[in-house]
Amino acid sequence: PVGTDVTIYEVGPRDGLQNEKGLVPVEAKAEFISRLLGAGLPIVEATSFVHPTWVPQLADAAELMNLLGEDGRHLPVLVPNERGLDRALELGLEHIAIFGSATETFAQRNLNRSLDEQFAMFEPTVVRAREAGMDVRAYVSMCWGDPWESAVPVDQVVSVGKRLYDLGASQLSLGDTIGVGTAGAVGTLLDAFNEAGLADDVLAVHFHDTYGQALANAYAAYQHGVRTFDASAGGLGGCPYAESATGNLATEDLVWMFRGLGVETGVDLGQLVETSLWMAEVLGKPSVSRVVQALG
Ligand code: HMG
Ligand code: MG
Repeated sequence: PVGTDVTIYEVGPRDGLQNEKGLVPVEAKAEFISRLLGAGLPIVEATSFVHPTWVPQLADAAELMNLLGEDGRHLPVLVPNERGLDRALELGLEHIAIFGSATETFAQRNLNRSLDEQFAMFEPTVVRAREAGMDVRAYVSMCWGDPWESAVPVDQVVSVGKRLYDLGASQLSLGDTIGVGTAGAVGTLLDAFNEAGLADDVLAVHFHDTYGQALANAYAAYQHGVRTFDASAGGLGGCPYAESATGNLATEDLVWMFRGLGVETGVDLGQLVETSLWMAEVLGKPSVSRVVQALG
């Protein structure tokens, strides 16, 4: 976005809400997204066009996008396969995100596919999306560790990530799905991607805060040269198919850090905190974000 130094890619409505057990009314989801856009977040990932029984919370994806109307068209949505793409195309959406796994076990658990089979699912999806003029983001999960396979070799992460990106994505988001990464390992992986030809300007980082390292990791990535940061308002989140995953890095905590650094995000922190306090009431539990607690 013009006039900002970094881009915050807000994932609260998708990564944040997908793990909530109690169904959030579709009107509240639409209001959440509108308020996040109103607070100055340039990109808000809205929902997922995945199998409804796999993620029941987001089974109302089409209804939500219809409610958002024109405002929703340019917002990214998660799409795993051609069936999901068809659903997004029917609604005239312009931006999808595919999500691959760097490990065999998570590919099986999250996508019902082997590590290799996932590419057969993504390839025709991306080809058709690009033909339709859509922008495609690719995620790669378990970049800094996997709950079943422990440490994941850097070469394996780079090879899967590059393969996903090369399908035709405009950006690759590196996911620390279970939040085990630390600042030194962030630099190591970014160096390895750079060596493989993916510069920091096509990379984004996606940190979960399970071990309290997300903000330190974001700072390490910023110092390295990354300028796109995934975060979730109020620190909502987790992945239903990775038990040890908790919330994402809280958007408020990230904005507070950047404000201190004099790095322009374009986000109105007061409005964002108000939004997270409101969402906490909708969900019936306080926000885990330290900045929301301090300012709230
Ligand atoms: P599958 O069961 O292997 O699907 O699931 P299938 O291709 O065999 O199809 C079976 C049936 O499902 C068919 O219907 C399809 O039409 C239907 P039938 O012919 O039997 O009547 N179907 C669908 N219906 C609606 N929408 C669809 C769809 N696809 C198939 N898109 C599948 C494979 C990928 C669909 C499933 O495993 C799935 O939905 N997985 C999604 C899991 C998920 O959403 N996980 C959370 C997001 S990932 C994440 O959080 C990590 C991230 O944040 C980054 C990080 O933190 O690292 C992104
Ligand atoms: Mg995630």
